[in-house]
Amino acid sequence: MGLPYRLVVRPAMRFIDSERAHGLSVGALRILAENRLTQKVLASVYRTPSLPINVFGRLFRHPLGLAAGFDKSAVALGAWPALGFAWQEYGGITRFPQDGNPKPRMFRSDVDRALINRMGFNNPGAQVVRTSLLKRRTAGRWPSTPVAANIGRSKTVDNERAPQDYAETFDLLYDHADFFVLNVSSPNTPGLRELQEDSHIRDVVSTCVAMRQRRSGLKPLLLKFSPDLDPDIMLSCAGAALSAGIDGFVATNTTISRPPPKNTKSRRIFAEEGGLSGRPLHQMSVESIGTLYDSVGGKVPIIGCGGIESGETAWNAITNGASLLQLYSALVFQGPSVLGRATRGVRKRLQREGFADLQEAVGYARP
Ligand code: FNR
Repeated sequence: MGLPYRLVVRPAMRFIDSERAHGLSVGALRILAENRLTQKVLASVYRTPSLPINVFGRLFRHPLGLAAGFDKSAVALGAWPALGFAWQEYGGITRFPQDGNPKPRMFRSDVDRALINRMGFNNPGAQVVRTSLLKRRTAGRWPSTPVAANIGRSKTVDNERAPQDYAETFDLLYDHADFFVLNVSSPNTPGLRELQEDSHIRDVVSTCVAMRQRRSGLKPLLLKFSPDLDPDIMLSCAGAALSAGIDGFVATNTTISRPPPKNTKSRRIFAEEGGLSGRPLHQMSVESIGTLYDSVGGKVPIIGCGGIESGETAWNAITNGASLLQLYSALVFQGPSVLGRATRGVRKRLQREGFADLQEAVGYARP
């Protein structure tokens, strides 16, 4: 664990409410991120080894990126590369501004290394985010590493009108990300997960693809799945999305299931409503990655997300079919040094098992 994080950030966070701790760290990063000197200092503390992979025609310095939900309003884009992330996903952004659910809505179980959240897409809305990103770009503060945007459905819009809602946000943000993730799998917007059904998905994806065609654009569009989906339903939905023009998948979002609690505190936290992330999600998410890879892995890339916290967990996700990885919870529990540890772990495994490069290991554990 990095010294600054271990000595200052984590002890401070133990005593405050999870969402406040999160707000404070993003706030601090936002300040540090805009300063080239502090960026350089951070980058030298949190140096990550290179483990290159080419995905979507772009070179990623290593596979690990920041998962959606951490930089919800895209205010700290400059900080994530300095902390060692090879890429980042901002959002979820909705077409209209939203406050999200009442607080408290984010909970942490240290013994389980798990979070539960029911944020509900709190964000300033696509128009405001677009304006701030435009400013950032004009000021020359755009990161050189790949940036993805996570798009959610507005709470006030029903599923019948969802395709237009997603497509409008996609349109507003089109110039401000390298690729896009359609989030139809958050458990915290009522009815959202029902979009993971063939005809709904076909409509959402094809409306977004039509928007992209109007712009004569080629930026990749991905779909993010829930780990709670029945494998057959997920595959059928993936097939419908592919036929409508999807370019890849993210597996997975948080789960509404709960592992057995380890003690009274984890029992209390697990009783909270919302999506669970972190260590107990890992196996479920790896199973989803594998199921997808077996069926569509030859056609499009899969991004693995869920309980990535070490070289071992990163290796699991890669060898089960993930070309890129993302994490959120491990950043909360371990700080940014998790990135260096996980990347070095994967590099060692590649060398030990005689792979020429990372690409060769993708899906290697599948039959
Ligand atoms: C999330 N996640 C998420 N995902 C998404 O697609 N859009 C979003 O807006 C959010 N928001 C969000 C908020 C909070 C507080 C958490 C903890 C998570 C899910 C996230 O991107 C990821 O899929 C899961 O957290 C699983 O990864 P980890 O945390 O196990 O590494």
